[in-house]
Amino acid sequence: MKTLLEQMTLHEKIGQLMQLSPFFFLADLEKEAAGPIRELHLDEEKIYSAGSILGIGNAAEMIAVQSKYLERSRLKIPLLFMADVIHGYKTIFPVPLALAASWNPDTARRCARVSATEAATSGIHMTFSPMADLVRDPRWGRCVESFGESPLLSGRFAAAMVEGYQNGDLKRSDSVAACVKHFAGYGAAEGGRDYNTVDLSRQSLQSAYLEGYRQAVKAGCRGVMTAFNPIEGIPCTVNRYLLRDVLRTQWGFDGLTISDYDSLAETIAHGVAEDPSQAALMGLEAGLDIEMASSCYINHLEEHIRSGNLPLKLLDEAVLRVLTLKQDLGLFDNPNKGADALRESTTVQHPDHLRAAHEVAAECAVLLTNDGTLPLNPAVSVAILGPYALAVKTNGPWSWHGYHDENPSLAEVLTARGISPVFAKIAGCPEEYSDHDIDRIRKADVVLLALGEPENWSGEAHSRTDIGLPGRQAEFVPFVRSLGKKAIVLLQNGRPLVLEEILDASAILETWFLGSRASEAIADLLYGVTNPSGRLPMSFPRSVGQIPVYHDALPTGRPNHNENHPGEYVTKYLDAPNSPRFAFGHGLSYSRFEVRNLSLSASKIRKDDVLAVEVDVINHGPLAGDTVIQLYLGDPVARISRPVRQLVTFRKIHVAVNETLRVRFELDIHDLSYRLADGTLVCDPGRFNLWVGDSPDRLLSSAFVLE
Ligand code: NOJ
Repeated sequence: MKTLLEQMTLHEKIGQLMQLSPFFFLADLEKEAAGPIRELHLDEEKIYSAGSILGIGNAAEMIAVQSKYLERSRLKIPLLFMADVIHGYKTIFPVPLALAASWNPDTARRCARVSATEAATSGIHMTFSPMADLVRDPRWGRCVESFGESPLLSGRFAAAMVEGYQNGDLKRSDSVAACVKHFAGYGAAEGGRDYNTVDLSRQSLQSAYLEGYRQAVKAGCRGVMTAFNPIEGIPCTVNRYLLRDVLRTQWGFDGLTISDYDSLAETIAHGVAEDPSQAALMGLEAGLDIEMASSCYINHLEEHIRSGNLPLKLLDEAVLRVLTLKQDLGLFDNPNKGADALRESTTVQHPDHLRAAHEVAAECAVLLTNDGTLPLNPAVSVAILGPYALAVKTNGPWSWHGYHDENPSLAEVLTARGISPVFAKIAGCPEEYSDHDIDRIRKADVVLLALGEPENWSGEAHSRTDIGLPGRQAEFVPFVRSLGKKAIVLLQNGRPLVLEEILDASAILETWFLGSRASEAIADLLYGVTNPSGRLPMSFPRSVGQIPVYHDALPTGRPNHNENHPGEYVTKYLDAPNSPRFAFGHGLSYSRFEVRNLSLSASKIRKDDVLAVEVDVINHGPLAGDTVIQLYLGDPVARISRPVRQLVTFRKIHVAVNETLRVRFELDIHDLSYRLADGTLVCDPGRFNLWVGDSPDRLLSSAFVLE
């Protein structure tokens, strides 16, 4: 690639750092006098120097753009096609927050593998996924794209998705490169308002917020996208500490960096760059390689290099990283790579992929409450009410290639299984049902309430201050009870919600947005074809006032040891307990699992030792099922305050009825370690508290000493 670099003009080099939408190559530029071309101050020569494309419709479109571009390219350097394939391409899997609720990284790997297979054949080379932003604020709309509140879960899921996409060899026709985002700390937007300021200490950045991206990079992810927000007052897109000190020096990352959409130009709005020219200077100096959607680099880098403001070396390094990725993807040998219209038509939404979407979806729902009404007997008659009673919009945000009209509704699925609902009708509140409707509802033994958020109430730029059920939905539970019926709530939503008003329901099944085969999975779960096994990846608060509430908080000077009878001068609220309504790690099953006989291989260990932690897990039935054994640690005395209790490992296991499995974890020094503010990994001798169990409210405890 170095030889190629030497042959390139300054203009050609800078072009490699510009990413444009395919529009520029599909539109008739002669006629296109307004719009993006005018706004970005681009001429045809600049457009045809672009190095990469954001988003593409399908294989035929990609091949057309690539050929048109290459015809005019002096050095025949192919375009790199990037896009947001977030939780599926056309076969849509559960949204990332739901995927994390599977507590099974293999499931995420499987979803990424199928997504890559479909996306690659449609002409995509790199996906802007995984999103590893840690989030402790459910008001933030992009919770739905995250893996939740735990650094460990974020890291494990981000790494698994990278492996699934990249598949060990980028040259394979069914591999796509992964680009982790949004580096860094985007999930900590103040007040949960998207694009808002982030103010994090280096300590919490290094020990919690960076972990997801760190693990993605460790897993070999080839790209890193910068975040919109500032860190320490400097927008991440031009933040040298993040892009050079952390990413390159501390983590040894040699892949490419890319801005978020327009985020280089937005440094002007942030008040750190005077104009696009200064933004360009700051971007390259800080270590930003590709500029997405804005045109600071293409219009201004040349003058900075020619005037000596910027060393050519910085430009060359950035361009080399772009060329290297193109080479590693095999684009110089085959510029279309996996794109193939014929194969696309047979690969995309292949029955195996849809089956995978169905199985994965069933693993991601979380049974929040159940008085024993679930699972249902197929002989029980049901009615389906609520705003999503006939919903097919189960894909969730960021599923731009997935079509809702191909998703069956729950009523259709039940009917196909011979369990036709006696009544199914959409309504925003009970008042909308007529007397005649109510007569029909009375014929049902059980009422399914399809409640929650509309699909577009979460995702980018979709933050909320009130995270309760929208509108008058909460009226449904008392309405159903007034008819003397049992109410089962099927919740769809992209974030933890405040559910205080519907706790009276007989059961609440959290179904997030489960994707193309959501309804099939929900039907399985309702009737016990699948035993629920999801666990919350994020705490559900009792009220907005409790936010942030998360499992791995630090100790305080005046702890609250008794939530029911707190002392006066302890950390508490006057009007609510400190604990969330549904804690991180919570999720019910139809089986009664018991965890017992916790044993540790030693009560004292040294730094090089491995500590074996074992428990028996018994399934008392009545169904076989999966459960998640969670192991938490507390480090009560260290050189800095450490979380009272933090998830350090977990395992999802399948247990047959009446079977007892001995589950073994091996902890080593890494599990006991934490990051200091400068990023170094340390651990402190002394006592460690340990908890193991399948639910945060039923944990066995023990302790050991690190000498
Ligand atoms: C903006 C979003 O923040 C980012 O997640 C996405 O990848 C880009 N747009 C590209 O679509």
